[in-house]
Amino acid sequence: VTRAGTGGAPAGPGRAGSGADLRAFRAADTDAEAGPLMQSLIRAKELPGLRAAEAGMLAELGLGRVQFALDVGCGLGDGAVAMLGRMPSGGRVAGVDTSQAMIAAARRQATSSRLSFAVATAACLPFPAGCFGACRAESVLQHVPDPAQVVAEMARVTRPGGRIACFEFDLGLTVVDHPDKALTRKILDSVADAALDGWVGRQVPRLLRRAGFTGVRVQARTIFAGFPFFRFGMRRPLAQLVADGVISGRDAVRWLADLEQADRAGEYLGGSTAFLVSASRR
Ligand SMILES: C[S@@+](CC[C@H](N)C(=O)[O-])C[C@H]1O[C@@H](n2cnc3c(N)ncnc32)[C@H](O)[C@@H]1O
Repeated sequence: VTRAGTGGAPAGPGRAGSGADLRAFRAADTDAEAGPLMQSLIRAKELPGLRAAEAGMLAELGLGRVQFALDVGCGLGDGAVAMLGRMPSGGRVAGVDTSQAMIAAARRQATSSRLSFAVATAACLPFPAGCFGACRAESVLQHVPDPAQVVAEMARVTRPGGRIACFEFDLGLTVVDHPDKALTRKILDSVADAALDGWVGRQVPRLLRRAGFTGVRVQARTIFAGFPFFRFGMRRPLAQLVADGVISGRDAVRWLADLEQADRAGEYLGGSTAFLVSASRR
């Protein structure tokens, strides 16, 4: 997967909150859609709201004074590249991800020997205690079975005084302007409940405090996305709701058709709120 050919109609979010295909990122390598997942990540990065949030996240890390930094659940590696760009010459960034496909893509795109990528789980980071001056995780905690364990690992590898930043969508805060409130509520709530923990966004401040971080700063960022983006991300969750008998196939089709009509009329509005949480290691 490269950045070439990412133009054209937006295809899908691949991340929670924008109608994401929630289960897919837990097993990107075994999923037949690993390629589309990567493309969806790239396209998500084109959302202006997300770009602004990522810039805000980097600013919170104080990277100008950091020699070693870590990107947990680094995906395609673009976040690690952006981190390196803000660090002093000689600084180094490591990225870890459970997906071999993601790490292979990150390595292909790495333009500097000061970037390194490894397959590893965030729940057991392959680094000694206190070795990083800054540590970040973007849209990762929503995909792990035990977010507290991941945050504890991030705390372990961050040096005292070092910085952490996490950015997580909260599926309870997904909005879409639809005429059928009851059906919309049912669909969005059910999609949130199908996630490992759809409310992880709002839990991040607590997780950081409990892991020994201080000066926790919480910012809410609402990321709006167009209807094609939303529709792509909702295709499997909606199919699952129909298969589980939560909604009928007819309801699913009608629900999307109403949104499509709104889109054609230039009236579609949809988005989701994420929490950008930053803090210092005690
Ligand atoms: C939505 S993507 C976000 C990727 C990247 N942080 C970004 O913002 O572009 C989630 C990533 O988390 C990775 N992931 C899921 N579970 C993980 C775990 N337990 N440890 C490390 N990475 C994990 C997935 O393989 C995927 O690359």
